[in-house]
Amino acid sequence: MNDSKYFYPGKLWLDTDGKPIQAHGGGILFDERTETYYWYGENKDGPTYHAHPRGAARVDIIGVSCYSSKDLWTWKNEGVVLPGEEANVTHDLHHSNVLERPKVIYNDNTGNYVMWMHIDDANYTKASVGVAVSNSPVGPFKYLYSKRPHNCDSRDMTIFKDDDGKAYLIYSSEENSELHVSPLTDDYLDVADQMRKILIGQHREAPALFKHKGTYYMLTSGCTGWSPNRAMAHAAEAVMGLWETIGNPCVGGNKIFQMTTFFAQSTFIVPLSGLPGVFIFMADRWNPADLRDSRYVWLPLTVGGVVDEPLEYNFGFPVWSKVSIFWHRRWRLPTNWWRTT
Ligand code: DGJ
Repeated sequence: MNDSKYFYPGKLWLDTDGKPIQAHGGGILFDERTETYYWYGENKDGPTYHAHPRGAARVDIIGVSCYSSKDLWTWKNEGVVLPGEEANVTHDLHHSNVLERPKVIYNDNTGNYVMWMHIDDANYTKASVGVAVSNSPVGPFKYLYSKRPHNCDSRDMTIFKDDDGKAYLIYSSEENSELHVSPLTDDYLDVADQMRKILIGQHREAPALFKHKGTYYMLTSGCTGWSPNRAMAHAAEAVMGLWETIGNPCVGGNKIFQMTTFFAQSTFIVPLSGLPGVFIFMADRWNPADLRDSRYVWLPLTVGGVVDEPLEYNFGFPVWSKVSIFWHRRWRLPTNWWRTT
């Protein structure tokens, strides 16, 4: 059954209708109730243009797409679950604005699917987060509001749900010079008052988190617009920190691949419950000349293995397990990967 299901990182990826998947800057929710994976991302299926002569290439907001899958390879288009707004020019989702990096988590207490996203204007000066909610993984999602969390600018962001049900917002702030971490309220619809500044002065964006054996890991990129740069892995004993930077996780391919995150930028890390210690690293290979044709780079990520140079002195910090993302021109999941635990 799995025989032909190869991932080809950076190659065109078609849905079950034979159309290119439109789910950029995306993330994945495994819905326990339907035992189905849902991939949410930016639908960028429109013309790329420059709103301002020296501004970044952009596509008008079309909305957040959703695709469903049982095997993480075959994706059925479930449509635009949070559409852009055409008529109301003052609406956050008006097509002239920016909606990036949507992520969805399920709230076990309220039964709500809660989506958080980066909301901005075409100049990236609004620098806010937006929240939407639905009682179904395939929407429709109702847009609630946007805000600057803790009155701080917020651009690239993600949310992370821990196994104890607590969820967190992680966002680039202070003009992308640092990240902020904050717990969400119990209903996941707002941020709590508590906030920690992390990776101060490191200028990181595109955060993606995962947890392995009680340790939290985060992948980030540098801040170079649509151009790729070197990824970094970070680790912590608690989501709120202290976070320590452990280095570039990219291995294989060639030096240029390793220094550019395989010409891509992190967006999400998918845990595979049947394969402990193995994750899928999801990244975007942006094409600023035609953003709709940006490609997906999905690669296996492992934690553990031999640490290259064991530290003799660790200055009181734990010696973190090595995080590795291996380049593969093509690869597939083993036949027994499905939730065997
Ligand atoms: C880098 C960010 O990671 C993307 O989500 C997007 O905002 C681009 N910058 C825009 O240049």
